[in-house]
Amino acid sequence: MSSVKADLARPDGGLLDLIKARRSVRRYTAQRIPEADLLRLVEAGRWAPSGSNRQPWIFVAVDDPEQLEALQAFAPGIIGRPAAVIAVCIDGYGNARDDGDEDLPPMDAAMAAQNILLEAAALAIGSCPVLSYDAPSVSRLLGLPEEVRLELLIALGYPAGPVRVPRRRRTMAQVGHRNRFGRPFEGAAAWDGDGPK
Ligand SMILES: Cc1cc2nc3c(=O)[nH]c(=O)nc-3n(C[C@H](O)[C@H](O)[C@H](O)COP(=O)(O)O)c2cc1C
Repeated sequence: MSSVKADLARPDGGLLDLIKARRSVRRYTAQRIPEADLLRLVEAGRWAPSGSNRQPWIFVAVDDPEQLEALQAFAPGIIGRPAAVIAVCIDGYGNARDDGDEDLPPMDAAMAAQNILLEAAALAIGSCPVLSYDAPSVSRLLGLPEEVRLELLIALGYPAGPVRVPRRRRTMAQVGHRNRFGRPFEGAAAWDGDGPK
């Protein structure tokens, strides 16, 4: 516990490096992902923040080759042949809507998904979020009960070949504003390109 406190008190930039190194990977080797690492990715997901701490996630990790093939038939957004796919789902979606919290489920799912993408990067596992799929067909294939809603698929696998160099991002002045919209940070330009050295 004490080391976590120390890291929070004085971050060393390591997480930012990982955030910037993560890329969507769409070409994978045939190497299977060990169950322990799939569990680790689910662990990363379940430590995400969630609205009112509902922790509404259901994660279905698919790594059986036949089930993967069937899944891909309903998910044109999955490019290449991933070794596994994690379906990020939200339990009790109907209840959340009844509470007037219809914005929460996609937010909660996205928080968990980014945790999974980053932990995958830390394990040298390539990943790609996928939103292009036929939700009813995938839900049926995975046996999801009616109250469990599929929010996002994450394709996973060891990268085949080098991962593309980081894509350029919009400039800091375009996305970062200080105190009021339209007022850039004084030091914004230093973060463009590869960021401050
Ligand atoms: C909500 C969401 C849906 C996405 N859906 C797909 C998809 O269906 N297929 C795909 O190949 N990539 C998909 N992506 C990946 C994006 O294309 C990718 O994140 C973007 O091009 C930036 O590249 P990077 O992830 O390497 O930084 C999706 C990303 C997000 C956040």
